[in-house]
Amino acid sequence: MEEELNKEEKETPVIATEHIEDDIIQHLNNPVTSLKPIVKQYLTSIVEVKKEDNRFYFSDGNARVEVRVVSDEIIRVRMAPHSVFLDDFSYAVPQVDQRVSTFRLEETDEDYLIATNTVTCKLNKETFHISFLDNHSSMVMSEDSSPMHWEENVEFGGYYVFATKNCLPEENFFGLGDKSGNMNLRGRKFQNWNTDAYSFGWDQDPLYRTIPFYIGVHQGASYGIFFDNTFRSYFDFGKEDHLKTSFWADGGELQYYYIHGPHMMDVVKRYQSLTGTHKLPPKWALGYHQCRWSYYPESKVREIAEGFRERQIPCDAIYLDIDYMDGYRCFTWNKKYFPDPKKMIKDLASIGMKTVVMIDPGIKVDDNYWVFKEGKENNYFCRRSDDYFMEGHVWPGRCQFPDFTNPTVRQWWGGLYKELVDLGVAGFWNDMNEPAVFGAGTFPNDVRHNFDGYRGSHRKAHNIYGMQMVRSTYDGLKKLMRNKRPFTITRAGYSGVQRYACIWTGDNVATWEHLKLGNIQCQRMSISGAPFIGTDIGGFSGEPDGELFTRWIQLGTFSPFMRAHSAGDTSEREPWSFGEPFTSINRKFIELRYRLMPYIYSVFWEHHRYGFPILRPLAMLEQENIGNHFRQDEFTFGDKLLVCPVLEQGATSRVVYLPKGQWYNFWTHELLDGGNEYDIEAPLEDMPLFVRAGSVLPEYPVMQYVGEKPIDEVWLNIYYADYEVNSFMFEDHGDTFAYEQDIYLEKKFVVKGDGRNLFIEQMIEGLYTPNYELYDYNVIGLPFEVAKVFADDKEITDFYLDERKRLRFKSNKNFMHIKIIGA
Ligand code: GLC
Repeated sequence: MEEELNKEEKETPVIATEHIEDDIIQHLNNPVTSLKPIVKQYLTSIVEVKKEDNRFYFSDGNARVEVRVVSDEIIRVRMAPHSVFLDDFSYAVPQVDQRVSTFRLEETDEDYLIATNTVTCKLNKETFHISFLDNHSSMVMSEDSSPMHWEENVEFGGYYVFATKNCLPEENFFGLGDKSGNMNLRGRKFQNWNTDAYSFGWDQDPLYRTIPFYIGVHQGASYGIFFDNTFRSYFDFGKEDHLKTSFWADGGELQYYYIHGPHMMDVVKRYQSLTGTHKLPPKWALGYHQCRWSYYPESKVREIAEGFRERQIPCDAIYLDIDYMDGYRCFTWNKKYFPDPKKMIKDLASIGMKTVVMIDPGIKVDDNYWVFKEGKENNYFCRRSDDYFMEGHVWPGRCQFPDFTNPTVRQWWGGLYKELVDLGVAGFWNDMNEPAVFGAGTFPNDVRHNFDGYRGSHRKAHNIYGMQMVRSTYDGLKKLMRNKRPFTITRAGYSGVQRYACIWTGDNVATWEHLKLGNIQCQRMSISGAPFIGTDIGGFSGEPDGELFTRWIQLGTFSPFMRAHSAGDTSEREPWSFGEPFTSINRKFIELRYRLMPYIYSVFWEHHRYGFPILRPLAMLEQENIGNHFRQDEFTFGDKLLVCPVLEQGATSRVVYLPKGQWYNFWTHELLDGGNEYDIEAPLEDMPLFVRAGSVLPEYPVMQYVGEKPIDEVWLNIYYADYEVNSFMFEDHGDTFAYEQDIYLEKKFVVKGDGRNLFIEQMIEGLYTPNYELYDYNVIGLPFEVAKVFADDKEITDFYLDERKRLRFKSNKNFMHIKIIGA
């Protein structure tokens, strides 16, 4: 039966027409491509097999397919239409290391089977359909519904390349980086083409970034597909045909990685193992940041910075948007507004305020401007196919644009930051790097790029332009800052951009819909491998009222990147701009961010070291529960905190779903059983927040900025559980790369209660010694009367129960074993 169907597919080109609509739309969008008959060619039957190391080559006599075993759980597939593979080069995956030594090729009458310890890749001899199976359960995770196919591109050469897979009736899809709209991607179609999407709407596509990686979940198990192709690419999750999932691109190679789960968390970690994780950011970057387009002149910047200190609202950084420059020329200062930047930056630093500045890619065409002159003399700017310079208008007027895909240009650009670094600028913000051009939108397709020696037109380089810009910024800063961690932020990016920068979601709008959208975008980016993400708190354009702004600050407290930003034509937008009660509530939440700093920092470490996402949607926490595939308005930050933001105007309560296990209400300490929904009070001054029972949640004293004072006292909040729970806390210098030489401290806690006693064990890894001395032990939720407390086998007698029934004691010792014995 299956065979018959497959034959039919090949004889009747039904599938071949499935992308006709796209081709027409593409033609309309791209008048240089002439409309032509669509002739798609499909792989036919396998006639030849070859093995070279961990690579297997299958041929149908014309085209070749390479299957490469990367690890037990990752397999890469490539297709060469006329047997000639393109150069094996990727900006996303710096190295495809082989990480497994045992795998085998087997042959049956129907199939070739490449099996690792975990996964089998099956290639049907007759149909060339490729499928991936879980060895343990024999479940088919992903399976071609037609053979890989291609279509010649007469205009540019090369091919449009296509893959179409079965989409199971109950299958759902997640990830794909920065997409607007609902978290679950099923039933929708997307395009990746980095776009300056000012004021984007719900479901608008494409946006600023390209992350061609998705996760499929069916029958309680997950797998991932990473289609590493920088050309304009497309994904269809059962939209055109509800039983098919397709992905295709306007050029390049059909090359994808199958990434096995079976848990979504495994898929994400394995994707990160290919494309890298964030390095640890400087700790101050995890504080609250204040931005606006633009704070100027200098007196305004000082007024805002001092405003935070006067009102005792913590803040670590203030941003200078484009108006600090001289006529929007990058790497210059407007001397009228900022006569003495060095002194201003120093004075700001003296009150703990870091300065972050904007740098755009568009360089003003001006022979008296040193950056333009250097770029021109050295031939660093992009050119059109006939050698004219690529010119377009951006903020400074007529501009040319460095070719960041050229390693020499990247090196030059990285060095341009020297003066700003010497002035004391602490962070750098790369914007408009889709690249954005006024009027035209972006560069024309014929612009040429070096592409690290693998040359290509803008069709190939567009989606990685922004990532290569911020890569050059990051690498340059790393050299200039001598072992201090750079802080960089970018708007555009491609898979792997997380190795170089944090991201903000771009020009959002001050509406409740955008608050909801931002909440989903941050979660989605987090499970798409780029978890250091935040929205413009308050909305970039439009005017929030006090309620919306405060609800946004509450969500932002649990955004990996926490920054308020607004457009120049809006009213003032500082945490105090809306008066009371909003100012006090905003302060309470920003303070909470600083109290939780040791936990937040530890979650970043967990991401960097082990590839865990920072925000984890419910679909990830309980993938076997299909209901959770549609719950998108709550998430955990790390493993311990469940965040349920209030996203409705006027709401004073909201329904939350608690995942299985037990959870403490962070505010009231009430213990609730997971696996259920609850209606939770949420007056404006509160946002429902829960702590996983058994957690050790470390807390620092409130600071006005990271490093304001030495931390003399650390709270260890220990939440009782009747079962065993692991937690950890990470500490180090906070701003160097010494952690790469093991100069850090990872405290691992195991908490276990049995109804009558509670045991807390600690283990320590790493070489760093923190400089605080007092530990404030704070045990929440003990279900028994306390008789005795032992710490490292000595009895403690000065414990007490406070007014909230928490068992408290302080010590200058970091105890390895604590026993709380019931009466
Ligand atoms: C872009 C950015 C925005 C910035 C503005 C001016 O719109 O997305 O954040 O404020 O340009 O530089």
